Parts: sequence; structure tokens; C-alpha cells
Amino acid sequence: MSETRPRRILLGVSGGIAAYKSVELVRRLTERGCDVQVVMTRGATRFVGPLTFQAVSGHPVRQDLWDETEEAGMGHIALARWADLVLIAPTSAHCLARLAHGLADDLLTTLCLATDAPLAIAPAMNPHMWLHPATQANLAVLKSRGVRIWGPAEGPEACGESGPGRLLEPPDLAALVVEARSGHKQPCHLRVLMTAGPTREPLDPVRYLSNRSSGQMGYALAQAFRAEGADVTLISGPTGLPDPSGIRVERVETAQEMHDRVLQSLPGQDIFCAVAAVADFRPAHAATRKLSKDKTPKPLPLEATPDILSAVSSQDPRPFIVGFAAETHDLEAHARAKLAHKKPDLLVANPVGPGQGFESAENEAWVFWPGGDRRIERMPKGPLAEILVGIIRERYEHRGGS
Ligand code: C5P
Repeated sequence: MSETRPRRILLGVSGGIAAYKSVELVRRLTERGCDVQVVMTRGATRFVGPLTFQAVSGHPVRQDLWDETEEAGMGHIALARWADLVLIAPTSAHCLARLAHGLADDLLTTLCLATDAPLAIAPAMNPHMWLHPATQANLAVLKSRGVRIWGPAEGPEACGESGPGRLLEPPDLAALVVEARSGHKQPCHLRVLMTAGPTREPLDPVRYLSNRSSGQMGYALAQAFRAEGADVTLISGPTGLPDPSGIRVERVETAQEMHDRVLQSLPGQDIFCAVAAVADFRPAHAATRKLSKDKTPKPLPLEATPDILSAVSSQDPRPFIVGFAAETHDLEAHARAKLAHKKPDLLVANPVGPGQGFESAENEAWVFWPGGDRRIERMPKGPLAEILVGIIRERYEHRGGS
């Protein structure tokens, strides 16, 4: 794709109340330099008039596969070829099912079969419809075909219920479109080693020191790398998450085990991502039998755990290294200090606290590297991981340069 022409986004709008938010999405995309053409399903036109989309996009809106004027020149094929990216926002449960089954019963679904541009969907529906096994099965089919799934977010919905099913906010969707790799998907042949989740540092056979990390961010990043074709090894601390498919997962408990497994797996890796929230301290002595109240040492002596990220940074040769930093305050200062001290090539910092970061389905991030930084707005961890993979790949390709 030429770098000079605007990115061409074909925005499909299917029938749901969230369709009104897509009007703002078109504005956000055009503000960010995209050329947007809108295709609406019949249901979508019940919620928003095509004229509104025509006004904000500057293009006539297509709705009908049987439009005699447009189709005289095979308009749907021309539109399918025109797009750099097809995004359907909102994607209703019905639209999602039609895509999963490869139906071509209207202009939008026909375009999705005819295009070889990447397809992204931003689902929006009632939480019960989203969680229904039929919808989840359709989603799995689309994921397995490499369709990008952006959202949904959780929260109160127009139907009065609350749960997963809200359309991502237009600024977040616009950020995803801009960050998504331009043009056609380039497969990634990198070997990626990652850590994720917390570690547990035993005090005795039944007690341990740990933290609130759920592992979701690391697993999402592993899946986002896998979706782009990378060979991924995930060294995971204890989490309640199932092994993501297509990824080599090795489970460990302690920082020491994670450290040893990482160093064993390091040869031949292109990228190392230290996402795990590794415990910084462990009880100096782990008892082999359960300690009774009066035998538990008070105060409890602690010792430092090995720093895995620093150990990988000091290897020669070393892979491209991505560190993470969860901060409750002074995020930028702490992140810049860690970048200088631990020497990763890239540092992803995110705020943590009540309802944010750990144990939460959403996250925001501020990415730092020597000579630059980029902020990513709050959004679900899956789409955030996709953006991070884009930034990591870009910086990896520019390694050695600025
Ligand atoms: O200094 P801090 O613990 O905040 O640094 C966080 C980064 O260092 C994360 O990338 C984390 O995975 C990594 N780390 C590590 N080994 C430790 C502690 C942190 O690899 N023992």
C-alpha cells in the first residue's frame, strides 16, 4: 500500500442500538486521516438514517446488493477490492452468525467473502446473547479464521442489563483501526518467549506470598502474537486461565522456577516479553511442614527473588526485550527509571489499583522506549494486546535505529 494515500476503511454497520455510536466512529476515523465508506444492513437503517453516515463520511452509503446503478459495474466487487480493512461496528449476534456461516445474503456479508482485506468485528449485543453458546461457537469459528475481535466491553447496556456486550467506545475503535497493521496481514515468523501471571512463594506447604495478577494481559498478548503467526512459548505462573490453543504453555509456581525455565528456553528466541507479576520477595525459609501459629517467625524474614528481566537483559546475545511495569502512582517517572535500570528495549507501563489493571478485563498502557513513547487508551485486554503486538513488531523491526 502506498504510504501517501489515506487508509481505506470499509465500515459495515449492522442492526443494533449501538449503531448511533458508529456515526462518531466515522468522524474519529476521518479526523485520523482515513477514507471511510459505509455499508449498512437493513436492520441498521432502522436505527440510523443512511443520510447521516453519508454526511459524516462524504460518500454515498451502500445498502443493497441489488442496486442496479452500482451493480452495473460490479460495485460490490469494486468495494471489496477498495478496502484496506473491513470493520463491522456494531456487529449484532445475527450478523456474527451470518459471518461465521459464510452467508452472502446481503451486500455486507457478500463483501466480507469477496474481500481479501483483514476483517475486524466489534460486537455489541445483550449480555445473554453474547454469552449464549451459539454466539460463542460462532465467535470461535471467526477467531480461528483470523478475524479480529474488538470487544465487547462490559458495563450497563441500552437494554437495561449490565455485562459483556457494549460496543467499544469510538475513540478506542478508531485507535485500533489506526494501530492495526496497514494493508494485508503480514504473517509474523518470530519466536516469542513470554512470562505471565503471578508467582507463589511458599512459606510452608499450605501458605504462600503472591499478588493479584490474573494473567489475562500476558495470555492476551500470547494469543495476539499467535494470531499473527508467531511461535509462542508461555511460562505461566498459577492462573485460573485455560492454556491458549496453539501456544506451548509451561506452568511454574515460584520466581526461581520461572527464572530457570526462562533461561532454559531462551536460546533461539527473537523476543522476550516479561509480563509476569513476579513476586519481588520470598520467605527466607520455606518450612516443609505446616507452621503452627506460635512457630511462624515474627517478623517474617524475606529475601529477594531473582530478577528474570534483568537476567535476560544481561545475556549476550540477547533477544529483543519487552518489560512491563504495573504502577499505582508516578507512572511515567517509575517507568522511565525501569527502562534505564533494567534495560528492556520497550517498557509497557500500566496503572493498577481498585478496578484497574490486575483482576480487571480492561487495561490502559503507556509504552516507552529509548527516544520515544506512545499512550494507549483504556480498553479490553484483547484489543490492547493486538495494539501492543503491532508496536512491539514495529520497534523490533527498527531495533538498533531510533
Ligand atoms: O521492578 P518491577 O518489578 O516493577 O519490574 C517489572 C518488570 O520486571 C516486569 O516486566 C516483570 O515481569 C519483571 N520482573 C522479573 N523478575 C522479577 C521481578 C520483575 O522479570 N523478579
